[in-house]
Amino acid sequence: MKKITSETLRQKYLGFFEKKGHKIIPSASLIPENDPTVLFTTAGMHPLVPYLLGEKHPAGNRLTDVQKCVRTGDIEEVGDSSHLTFFEMLGNWSLGDYFKSEMIPWSFEFLTSPEYLAIPVGDIAVTCFAGDNDCPKDEESARLWQKCGILPENIYFLPKSGNWWGPAGTTGPCGPDTEMHIIRNRAEADKLGAYDFDNAPSGTFLEIWNDVFMQYNKNAEGRYEPLKQKNVDTGMGLERTLCILNGKSSVYETDLFENAMREIEKLTGKKYGESEEVSKAFRVVLDHVRTSTFMLGDVKGIVPSNTDQGYILRRIIRRAVRFGRNLGLPQGSLSKVAKNFVDKYAEVYPELVKNSGKIYEELEKEENKFSKTLQQGIREFEKVAAALSEGGRIDGVTAFHLYDTYGFPVEITVEMAAEKGLKVDVDGYSKCYSEHQEKSRAGSEQKFACGLADHKEETTNLHTATHLLHAALKIVCSPEVEQKGSNITEERLRFDFNFARKLTPEEVAEVERLVNEQIKANVPVLMKEMTLDEAKAQGFTGLFESKYGEKVKTYSIGEFSKEICGGPHAKYTGELGTFKIAKQENVSAGVKRIKAVLVK
Ligand code: ALA
Repeated sequence: MKKITSETLRQKYLGFFEKKGHKIIPSASLIPENDPTVLFTTAGMHPLVPYLLGEKHPAGNRLTDVQKCVRTGDIEEVGDSSHLTFFEMLGNWSLGDYFKSEMIPWSFEFLTSPEYLAIPVGDIAVTCFAGDNDCPKDEESARLWQKCGILPENIYFLPKSGNWWGPAGTTGPCGPDTEMHIIRNRAEADKLGAYDFDNAPSGTFLEIWNDVFMQYNKNAEGRYEPLKQKNVDTGMGLERTLCILNGKSSVYETDLFENAMREIEKLTGKKYGESEEVSKAFRVVLDHVRTSTFMLGDVKGIVPSNTDQGYILRRIIRRAVRFGRNLGLPQGSLSKVAKNFVDKYAEVYPELVKNSGKIYEELEKEENKFSKTLQQGIREFEKVAAALSEGGRIDGVTAFHLYDTYGFPVEITVEMAAEKGLKVDVDGYSKCYSEHQEKSRAGSEQKFACGLADHKEETTNLHTATHLLHAALKIVCSPEVEQKGSNITEERLRFDFNFARKLTPEEVAEVERLVNEQIKANVPVLMKEMTLDEAKAQGFTGLFESKYGEKVKTYSIGEFSKEICGGPHAKYTGELGTFKIAKQENVSAGVKRIKAVLVK
């Protein structure tokens, strides 16, 4: 295996697939566009869902990229040697183009060829789908692997729990997959039969790549419907692959974290590895600062808040402050650590450099805010904990008090309690929270039940209405108005935009009138592909994330609305129904939110 840096691995991957006729596309934002089923982009395929479902992608039907991803299901696990909340996924896609018989030999070539990863064939094990009522056993993949040279004894079969991928949210494209693993313990691997892969002791295999054969769409009823087109979706975790190729025992020992690690050592006088406790705190700070840096620096950058993505950001910054404190990290250090990540990723993600001022400022603000109450909160917590015996439970009112007065996200209280063998009444906490806050977190989660990923008529129509609303706000409020966020469920649209104040009742009425005028006129919604430069020259607006992506899709509704957008949209505005603004909210000083509905 070759020793390799993160920069080289990215280049090799993209270069390999470019040679196989793929267009390199830029990473999409960490915040999913119009997909309310999840808070963050969780995989390379996620921003490509509309295209996997059949929309045409302007760059063609063979794509490759490195996608920024965030998975927050196991924040409390971060601190061990493998969990990360942010990671980069190398991936390539066939949108109804090639399938297994091309993809498997390519995977084999990339992994084993001396020009690329040079992994010895005998070190690779693969798993294939074992088959069930939804989808037959994947004998074809196994045959293809064997033809490439994978040893038959290194080919295993697993059920859905192991060899099935997707959907990214609750509904959407998915299918059987074949996964590639490095054999780390041959003696253990040799003991296993073809169906025993899951019985191997942990550490026997390390997964390196996943090829998904995306042939199904999981619908809202939970059924798997065959897709119109057969796709390939692959994903290789950058950090994990670097760790394996370089023979490191932890993802935190890769070049991605090196400078930030030295910075923490400098700031604290402690050494990574000097004790397990110290290493854990290092890893929490490293991971959480890196993730916060990417969230704050994203093109659709978010800031700490008490709901949705902002809450997750707040939670991880505060968790970093708590663990940093254990290390003796002085107040104000998080932004210094963040600077190392901005520098390390500057070329690949220039948005971090562009937004570096905001990244440092927000980190400092949040760190200062929490530092003020942290010590007192810990003292209060210790008092409560001391009064309980092992296995005891902190009641909901106390957990809410720790949140409300000392700023402890309940998950942090739960973690601190667990360190002392105690539990927290989280339901009781939620009840208190709902009583005290107009917007409860539970409420905000319910709305993630369904979304545009489905291409339902309701969501598609609301997407078109969002464009009309955006255009109307530019007329009524200011030409400077820009989209700061968009989220669509079957019931309503939600649109965030930069404006200093809420709209007056007269302005609301005027926005509604302008939108409904366009709907009544039954204007066709026209899609046209063009280069980004042409689109800009013709007055199309949108987030110009494109770096390599040459062609973009544009949607125009007469001269009224012109946006760069992936679609899908209604064919005519007349299909929409009557547009009505249901609610206005304040997101932050300069950002306002409108929720609106379409009444049939
Ligand atoms: N979407 C697949 C994954 O995330 C490739 O593993």
